[in-house]
Amino acid sequence: MPITLLTHPLIQHKLTILRDIGTGVKIFREVVGEIAMLMCYEAMRDLPLEDIELMTPVAASKSKTISGKKLALVPILRAGLGMVEGILNLVPSAKVAHIGIYRNPETLKPVEYYCKLPPDIMERDCFILDPMLATGGTAAAAASYLKEAGARSIKLLTILSAPPGVEKMELEHPDVEVFTCAVDSHLNDHGYIVPGLGDAGDRIFGTK
Ligand code: URA
Repeated sequence: MPITLLTHPLIQHKLTILRDIGTGVKIFREVVGEIAMLMCYEAMRDLPLEDIELMTPVAASKSKTISGKKLALVPILRAGLGMVEGILNLVPSAKVAHIGIYRNPETLKPVEYYCKLPPDIMERDCFILDPMLATGGTAAAAASYLKEAGARSIKLLTILSAPPGVEKMELEHPDVEVFTCAVDSHLNDHGYIVPGLGDAGDRIFGTK
């Protein structure tokens, strides 16, 4: 499975802000959006272009435009929602699908409770959004749901990863390209990434 580590200094600097226990909800939420926007810039690097003809104020010209690609952002509820707005700033015409999955705190296994996809999902380039790739159970389940619905092009944008999540995606979805900003050391007994940044959903929405 291709994994792309996003080492750009701007991204790494912003990731450090997210990791810091002293970062409050407002800044945390804003920085998640900013990192998502920068990640999207990298993940959409291979979108095909075509030439169109237009008039500039000076002359007739041929210029590049993104060639009719249909995109779907697929945030995994709820932490993935924090990544949507930043990406929509760059690609405002993307459709937003939602997949609700939570981790059973005892088994750490994914449980789906909501799924709403655009009907033409099979024609769209899908970008699963989840800030954290921990066990990989949630991301792998989301990729499976999308494939069952007919999606053929899927990428995963996840801010922070741990080795078990990377390995699970590699094993179950070798065709899904993963974009992440860091792969941390390990998971603790509660399935949290170490050193990580804590519970991304709670820190985005201020629920703790
Ligand atoms: N989900 C989170 O929000 N944080 C982790 O560390 C792991 C999963």
